[in-house]
Amino acid sequence: MKKPKRIVAANWKMNPDTLFRAKKIFEPLKRNASKFRNVNLLLLPPFPYLAPLRESYKGKSVAFGAQDVFPEPRGSFTGEVSPLMLQSVGATHILVGHSERRALGDTDEKVEKKLRAALDNAFSVILCIGERERDHGGHYLGFLRDQIVAALKGVTVKELKGVTIAYEPIFAIGKSADNAMKPFEIHETVLFIRRVLTEMYDRDSAFRLPILYGGSVEVSNAEGILRDGEVQGFLVGHASLVPDEFLEILRIADRT
Ligand code: PGA
Repeated sequence: MKKPKRIVAANWKMNPDTLFRAKKIFEPLKRNASKFRNVNLLLLPPFPYLAPLRESYKGKSVAFGAQDVFPEPRGSFTGEVSPLMLQSVGATHILVGHSERRALGDTDEKVEKKLRAALDNAFSVILCIGERERDHGGHYLGFLRDQIVAALKGVTVKELKGVTIAYEPIFAIGKSADNAMKPFEIHETVLFIRRVLTEMYDRDSAFRLPILYGGSVEVSNAEGILRDGEVQGFLVGHASLVPDEFLEILRIADRT
C-alpha cells in the first residue's frame, strides 16, 4: 500500500501585520512547495489574506484554508465569514476548535456546528482538540474524549473521510521545542484518540483518519515527533511564519 502523504499545515493565527509581509512570507513557499512531493501543504492565513494569496499562486502544491468559519450560510451576522464566502475565494479547508478560539468562546457545541457547516459545504476539516493540563489521575483523557465525541456528533463514517484531528495540548502551544510534548507522550495520546474513534466508528475508519500534532513544532523536534509520535503531520504556528524554518520542517516531513 502506498504510504499516505504527510500533512503540514501553517497556522498563521493573527499574523503578520500587513498583506505586504504576508506575501513576503509566502514567496519562498510558493517557489519551493512543489518539491515536497510527500507532503500535503496547507496554508491557513488570516481571512483578509486568503484571496490575494490564493490568487497569487498558480501551482497545485499548496491548499488554502481558513482558521475559523461562521456556521450560517448568510444574513445579519456582522463581522462573520460564511462557508460560501470561503469557498468563493478558493479555500478548501477549515480549522475548527482551535484552543485560542475556544478561549474566545467557542464551546463544544459551537465547534460541532462549525464542523457540520464545513462538512455540509464540502470542506475538509481540521478539528483541534487538546487538554489544558495533564493530571496523574488521567482526567485529561476524559476531557479529550468529550471534545472528540461532541465535535463529531452526527458525523457519518462517510463524512469522517473529510476530517483530520490536530492534537494540540494547550500548555505546549506558542512556546519553544523544549516545551513541546515528547514523542512517546504524543504516541500514547494518538492511540487514545484512535480508541475513542474506534468506539464511535469502525476500526478502519478510526485508523485511517489523519492525526496531526501541534504545539511548538520546530526544526529541532519535528523529526522525532514524526518518527516516534505516530502522527501524520503537523499544525505549525510560530515556526510557519519564519520561511527558512518552515521550509526545513517541510523538508523533514518530506523525507521522514
Ligand atoms: P505553535 O502553535 O506552533 O506556535 O505552538 C500551534 C498552534 O496553535 O496551532
